[in-house]
Amino acid sequence: MADFFLCATFLGLLAVIQPLYSLTAAPAATASSPYLSATTLFQNYEKMLTSFKIYIYNTPQENSVSTFSAQPISLFYSSLINSQFITQDPEQAHLFYIPSPPDISARSGARIVREIRTNYPYWNRTLGADHFFVASNGVDSSSDRNAVELKKNAVQISIFPTTSGNFIPHKDITLPPLNPSPLALVDEGPATKTPSYLGFMVWDDNNKRKVSSSLVNEMKGDDEFRIESEPLDRINVIKSSKFCLFAYEEGDLTWMVEAMAMGCVPVVLVDHPIQDLPLMDVLRWSEMALVVATRGGVRRLKEVLTGVDQVRYQKMRELGVTASRHLVWNLEPQPHDAFHMVMYQLWLRRHTIRYGRRQWD
Ligand SMILES: *[C@@H]1O[C@H](CO)[C@@H](O)[C@H](O)[C@H]1NC(C)=O
Repeated sequence: MADFFLCATFLGLLAVIQPLYSLTAAPAATASSPYLSATTLFQNYEKMLTSFKIYIYNTPQENSVSTFSAQPISLFYSSLINSQFITQDPEQAHLFYIPSPPDISARSGARIVREIRTNYPYWNRTLGADHFFVASNGVDSSSDRNAVELKKNAVQISIFPTTSGNFIPHKDITLPPLNPSPLALVDEGPATKTPSYLGFMVWDDNNKRKVSSSLVNEMKGDDEFRIESEPLDRINVIKSSKFCLFAYEEGDLTWMVEAMAMGCVPVVLVDHPIQDLPLMDVLRWSEMALVVATRGGVRRLKEVLTGVDQVRYQKMRELGVTASRHLVWNLEPQPHDAFHMVMYQLWLRRHTIRYGRRQWD
């Protein structure tokens, strides 16, 4: 019954909002932006730069984070500790960061939470909702109370793509992958010549897992696709391909951002809906990337790819080029880059309910 009323109210609201929206939002203007809401984003971003404060717990795990190298996690960590966002005063903090080893398990997570909930008053105030932690593949479920609160309440930051089942949409965040050749992004603009391939995919034959290998084999027999295990001229092939294909679960997604920057529209091959794309709260992914199931084989894939008309294709390319700069990691963080956009997503998650002491003690 309560659900019904909630639902009815919500629909009523929608009915009110809908006509207003269609009157004020010019379709052309919204379609040419890669952002879900550009106005909110840039105003809110400025506010974040001046106000956002994070308190870092001094846990013994801290050291193992800083020695973790060559991953977006270590870039995130070093950027964070050297940023203006850190405060030594927990009373000033919007969010609390729990440093942990990147391969943290639910079990070791539980141990850390037990420690901080005993030694500090902050976990109990929100049961972890104003806390965040980093775990490369996300944490698994567990029956331990501390681990449950960590998984269900605290914001988890993992690397895209996250192990299935370990990501909670709207709460968790993924780090954009670290591009294999960051310089290429700066030196090379988007391609201008007519593409020679419909699709390009980097595929290692040793990776004989799951469904996509049969699709890959079909593509190998098709001139319109180029499949390579270790392309030496990757940048040239990207530039001569209309679409760049990535197998969500098994492939190498690290060069997805590079592909976007060079105007190769990314296609994610996966047989279930995905909700862990980086900057999911910021970018209009559906306007710049395609998600295609592998089970339809090469025939279905071609149908989808050739079904994108030239006008839509050009738009997808342009938006991808614009969006790519937000997905790039820098050793020295730059405005609006991957580090700052991850921070922005944390900033969006800072409003949490704090419980009075009495309720829980
Ligand atoms: C937080 O709550 C738990 C019980 O849920 C309690 O054992 C612990 O002492 C509390 N922590 C603090 C710092 O008060």
